[in-house]
Amino acid sequence: MAADVIDGTAFARGLTKDLTEQVAGLAERGVVPQLAVILVGEDPASQTYVRSKIRAARSIGIRSVEHRLDAATTQGDLLSLIDRLNADAETDGILIQLPLPPQINIAQVIRAIDPAKDVDGFHPTNVGQRVTGSGGIVPCTPKGVMLLIGSVAANVEGLDALVIGASNIVGKPMADLLLAAGCTVTTAHIKTVGLPDICRRADIVVVAVGKAGLVKADWIKPGAIVIDVGINRAISPCGKSSLVGDVAFNEAVEVAGAITPVPGGVGPMTIACLMINTVQAALERRG
Ligand code: GUN
Repeated sequence: MAADVIDGTAFARGLTKDLTEQVAGLAERGVVPQLAVILVGEDPASQTYVRSKIRAARSIGIRSVEHRLDAATTQGDLLSLIDRLNADAETDGILIQLPLPPQINIAQVIRAIDPAKDVDGFHPTNVGQRVTGSGGIVPCTPKGVMLLIGSVAANVEGLDALVIGASNIVGKPMADLLLAAGCTVTTAHIKTVGLPDICRRADIVVVAVGKAGLVKADWIKPGAIVIDVGINRAISPCGKSSLVGDVAFNEAVEVAGAITPVPGGVGPMTIACLMINTVQAALERRG
C-alpha cells in the first residue's frame, strides 16, 4: 500500500496563518518583530533562499531588513555589522545565510551573534541549551521535521530513528531532538559502512546528505516514516531540470508508511519555523 505523502506546504500554511494572527496581536501593542537577513556574495541558491525568507516574513507582518554584502567582505566588516544589529533595539532576529565565502571564519561569526537574536539556533549557547534540554532556540529545519513527524505519529517514544547526515545545521540537532522525544537514535553519514542494513531497522529515517536518490525502497522498513531533507537539482534525459530529494521517492512511496516529497515537504517547514523562531525571539525580548 502506498505511503501517506506528508504535505509540508499545507502544514506550513497553517502555521503561517496562526503566526499572522499572533503578529497582528503584537502589532496592536506596538511590537513589530524584525528580522535582519545577511547575505554575503552572489551564490544563486542562497539568493533564492533569502528571497523566500524575506517574502514569508513580509506576508506574516514581520519586518525584514536585508543586508547584502559583497563577496569580498572581510571578517571585520561582517563582525561590525553583527555588533550593530546586536545593539539595535528594533532587531529581534539575525540570520546569516550560509555558506559564507572562504575568507570568513563561520564559527567566529556565529559566536558573535547575540544568542537571544540567533533565530537559526546555531550559537553555542543555543546548542548547549538544546543538548541539555534546557530550552534555547532550535534550528529551523530539524524543528520543522519534528512537527511533520508529529503530524503522522503522536508518540515516537521507543522507536528506532536513523539520521543520515551529521551537519551542524540539520543532522546533529535532528538527532538531539529525536533523542529528546524518546527515540533510540543512530546518526549515520555518507561514509557509514552497511548503511542499507542500518536503515532497514529504522522506524523513522531522516536523510540530509545532498545525494539524489540515495535511500532506495529496499532500504526502508515497511511502514517507516521517511523524511527527506535533501534538495538536489536533477536533469531528465530530455534536458528538463527539476528538484529531487535524497530518497528515491517513486519507489520508496510504495514501502514507507509516511513520506515527505521534494519539493513540498521539509522546505516550506524550514521557512515557517524561522518565522516561529523570530516571533519567539521578539516575544522573549520585548513581549
Ligand atoms: N543555509 C542552508 N540552510 C541554512 C539555514 O537553515 N540557515 C542559514 N542561515 N543558512 C542556511
